[in-house]
Amino acid sequence: MIQKLKTICEESELGGILITDPYNLQYFTGFRGGEGYALFTGAQGILYVDSRYTEAAVQETGKAGSGFTVTEFNREHPLMDLLGRQLREDFVQKLGFEDRSMVCSTYISYREKLAPVQLIPLEDRLERERRIKTPEELDLLKKAEAIGDQAFTEILSVLTVGMTELEVAAELEYRMKKAGAEGLSFDTIAASGIHSSMPHAIPDDKQLEEGDFLTMDFGCRYKGYCSDMTRTVVIGKADAEQKKVYQTVLEAHCKAMEELRPGMRCCDVDRIARYHIREAGYGEYFGHGLGHSVGLYIHESPALNTRDETILVPGMIETIEPGIYIPGFGGVRIEDMGVVTENGYESFAHSKKELIEL
Ligand code: GLY
Ligand code: MN
Ligand code: MN
Repeated sequence: MIQKLKTICEESELGGILITDPYNLQYFTGFRGGEGYALFTGAQGILYVDSRYTEAAVQETGKAGSGFTVTEFNREHPLMDLLGRQLREDFVQKLGFEDRSMVCSTYISYREKLAPVQLIPLEDRLERERRIKTPEELDLLKKAEAIGDQAFTEILSVLTVGMTELEVAAELEYRMKKAGAEGLSFDTIAASGIHSSMPHAIPDDKQLEEGDFLTMDFGCRYKGYCSDMTRTVVIGKADAEQKKVYQTVLEAHCKAMEELRPGMRCCDVDRIARYHIREAGYGEYFGHGLGHSVGLYIHESPALNTRDETILVPGMIETIEPGIYIPGFGGVRIEDMGVVTENGYESFAHSKKELIEL
């Protein structure tokens, strides 16, 4: 990882890099505590943490073999003094910083306290290093998605008329945690009946009713890596329009998955699903992008949407999640997470996609 940072410094003519984003901290140093400041100066990598994290940081950076040493800051040795001294010792004049995640007041304070060091925005330069996953990362993402599969299988025997959306979400979360998840990758969505026309509805005390669509979008974190999956079922029997909407989303999902190839642009994969939904007459009801990458964070780049022209490369993770959302009627989304392979796309999700009527 030190080597990657060295390359970025050389390419961008920087004397050093300051990493403050929690996911980049984890990726480049191995530290999982979130609150830390990793300074790479070309000469060395130092992770500054406070006493809450010192022991964990030493263990985690060591285990990751990241090449970062740990220094504790405290009242006697304030962070800014330590950073300033190190930058002077290693003759750093231009320091790359994470402008996309740093709040303005922090930036202003760094600029004043680290002067005359020049702060140079890194934009998404560090995130881009995370796009192509290693085999070890792919294993963890696969395991995280498998935990989602297990929770979905289990919940099918639990769903009943009268259960609330909040209970559905709680059941999914409990089951993912029982199966080994260390946490959630985002707030679980359980949206039933007319609520399901809101793609990111917040679960409430609405009870499941006969004939409701129920969209469940859920994901967990396993050893830091996220999963993401959506399934929509019908409580009781689906009517003809529900079947048509469901079938259209399923076909769009499968088509995009089957036709995705490395070398394609992200926006062209989005177009496959969007075209299918438009041809079926539901174009105006599919507002969001087709998918996004996933890793240490739930929404990573590149994204399968109308704007992203990134070329897909083996090892990139993408979700494929078309949906149709009709206000006053309900909505359907089907989402898998998987990896771009040498020949196409391998989904990590194995839960059934044909319409389930409970
Ligand atoms: N649950 C968020 C997403 O699917 O992107
Ligand atoms: Mn998603
Ligand atoms: Mn999702």
